Amino acid sequence: MLSGIQPTADSFHFGNYFGAIRQWPLMQDEHDTFYMLADMHAITVDFDPNELRERTYRSAAQLIAAGVDPERSALFVQSHVPQHAQLAWVLNCITGMGEAGRMTQFKDKSSKGGTDRASVGLFTYPMLMAADVLIYQADRVPVGEDQRQHLELTRDLAGRFNHRFGKTFIVPSPYIVKETAKILDLQDPTSKMSKSASAPNGIIELLEDPKKAAKKIRSAVTDSGDEIRFDQENKPGISNLLTIYSALTGASVAAIEKEYVGQQYGQFKVALSELVADFVGPFGERTNALLDDRAELDRILTSGAEKAKALASQTLAQVYDRLGFVL
Ligand code: TYM
Repeated sequence: MLSGIQPTADSFHFGNYFGAIRQWPLMQDEHDTFYMLADMHAITVDFDPNELRERTYRSAAQLIAAGVDPERSALFVQSHVPQHAQLAWVLNCITGMGEAGRMTQFKDKSSKGGTDRASVGLFTYPMLMAADVLIYQADRVPVGEDQRQHLELTRDLAGRFNHRFGKTFIVPSPYIVKETAKILDLQDPTSKMSKSASAPNGIIELLEDPKKAAKKIRSAVTDSGDEIRFDQENKPGISNLLTIYSALTGASVAAIEKEYVGQQYGQFKVALSELVADFVGPFGERTNALLDDRAELDRILTSGAEKAKALASQTLAQVYDRLGFVL
């Protein structure tokens, strides 16, 4: 099992958490788990080196605070394991230009600053992501809905390589939890919650001040009508809040609807705002405590990279051999 996240913000947000990260600790007992900070992906768009360094530590601390246990999982930084870039080069050579150009995240991100200005790294981003997964022979990849297309490409590339050079890679499946696969922007519940696209009030950050987080929930956009009912199409705002409520409490959406029959949006939002504050408060404290000991974080990341390299180097040696590289 492998998954990754980009250290491109001071804090992860509810989309990252409910869409992906929350699943990660649940898999540690039954799977060999590899969780990665994708710093090489983070440099495909504008970035600041000092910020990137700090955010990498903050990201590691948040993953541990979320339950990733460095004893049971390999928690590591992508750039510490050079085999990712080495395999990505090989995958670049079996990917068609047209195929890579069809990736919707590339199209979205590159159109923002003008396609000519987009980096070649942004174009090859999905093949690096495919390498991240395939180098560990991962069969399951827990992600949110927005990564589905990249994983389809990963599957295609694994199958193509196997077909052409002999069975080498496991063809991985995305692991996408339907209910929380797409957490929406609180201010614009027709778009996903996104660190790059959402306005600050549309996002709840995991490291947010609890009072501020509560306020964002209370001022979330809700729909016309006043019934607290899940209806993605006609009531995307309240449906998104129901999803968050359900994810935080473990109660089913149906049970929550029942509990709030006859109540107003306002009452529901107050209750949810308290749940959210109770969640982010302790989460922030745990993360800050971990950030106080950088030497320990370095130790964890170094040991994670060692575990990762042991497996990655085996796969790469096999790939090089299959390609006819003289070993
Ligand atoms: P990233 O860093 O953008 O996001 C990390 C994870 O959060 C999920 N996510 C969401 N899920 C539900 N609702 C949302 N609004 C939402 N926003 C983000 C993403 O789907 C993702 O699972 N390319 C990846 C990082 C990566 C990776 C990998 C993932 C690099 N290598 C290998 C899996 C396997 C990315 O940019 O995720």
